[in-house]
Amino acid sequence: MRERTLGSLTTSALGLGCMSMSGMYGPADETESIATIHAALDAGITLLDTGDFYGMGHNEMLIRDALRDRDRDQVTISVKFGALRDPGQNWAGYDGRPAAVRNFLAYSLRRLGTDHIDVYRMARVDPAVPIEDTIGAIAEMVQAGHVRHIGLSEAGPEAIRRAAAVHPIVDLQIEYSLLSRGIEKEILPVCRELGIGITAYGVLSRGLLSGHWTRDRKVGADDFRARGPRFQGENLDHNLALVEALRGVAESRGVSVAQAAIAWVLARGEDIVPLVGARTRERLNEALGALDVAFTEEDLAAVEQAVPADAAAGDRYPTAQMAHLDSER
Ligand SMILES: NC(=O)c1ccc[n+]([C@@H]2O[C@H](COP(=O)([O-])OP(=O)(O)OC[C@H]3O[C@@H](n4cnc5c(N)ncnc54)[C@H](OP(=O)(O)O)[C@@H]3O)[C@@H](O)[C@H]2O)c1
Repeated sequence: MRERTLGSLTTSALGLGCMSMSGMYGPADETESIATIHAALDAGITLLDTGDFYGMGHNEMLIRDALRDRDRDQVTISVKFGALRDPGQNWAGYDGRPAAVRNFLAYSLRRLGTDHIDVYRMARVDPAVPIEDTIGAIAEMVQAGHVRHIGLSEAGPEAIRRAAAVHPIVDLQIEYSLLSRGIEKEILPVCRELGIGITAYGVLSRGLLSGHWTRDRKVGADDFRARGPRFQGENLDHNLALVEALRGVAESRGVSVAQAAIAWVLARGEDIVPLVGARTRERLNEALGALDVAFTEEDLAAVEQAVPADAAAGDRYPTAQMAHLDSER
């Protein structure tokens, strides 16, 4: 597996995002999820991404179980914290207060069955708490040995600069794909200026850009995609037409739509690590194939002609969740 560098951290060129193994995209099979994590590690993936709120702690315990018979030190565990939920599993805001940081971390360490987290990051910037305070609290946890590196998630340019002034930041985790190119104008240049890498999520636009999504696919009410603006009505028709254009380019190069979409992100820079959200070995194997795709400049231009920048219809998140994105301000 090729490697990439995120700030001072070296990881595999692809990371595995484990979110979909804990209900965010409807039910997942636990045995297959663990087999998928094992297959990813066996293929050389070293970066596992999770959030303490994915399945209300379920995702961290799944990773703990998957790593039970593996060498923990060979794995980079990236954890997001700070999202609040209620007993109905509804989203209830964010908490970046220093005391909350220490509390979230203590629970995550216990659930993961480890004494340290490799990259710890607030899932969203908490507008009620100066980012210096949140990052300062994580920095104290670095000093104490509970955390190795600090990351950010969905932060905008000003927050990135303010955070980096407190402590070195290894990466910004943010949505980046052919359908979500918002970071290119301001955020990516700021990260590059400061030596901060990108872990790109949603590289398949949550499955929409995978080539496997169909107009008539039904998802449960608890699946993010039931509310995702890009999956609704005319937006979906428009976006699936883009996917069909991409399919034409991908097939003419002998690769799948998902592989073309992941390979495009991989080609955007050595400081970008796509997080693939596979929850089955079959999907994982397809995603891994993207590492072997050698697109020429001409191929990349054809891909971008099929899916031009800003061509997606619909926001990345429902309106209420868009409001939490510091990166979209
Ligand atoms: N920082 C943040 O705010 C944030 C937000 C979201 C996610 N993330 C992280 O980023 C990771 C990836 O995000 P994502 O799951 O939305 O990414 P994604 O790769 O865009 O979407 C993953 C979904 O695409 C479908 N898919 C179809 N073909 C696939 C293939 N060959 N390989 C992988 N998936 C395929 C799967 O859905 P089906 O199984 O239904 O086919 C899968 O669950 C998450 O697991 C999480 O760790 C971070």
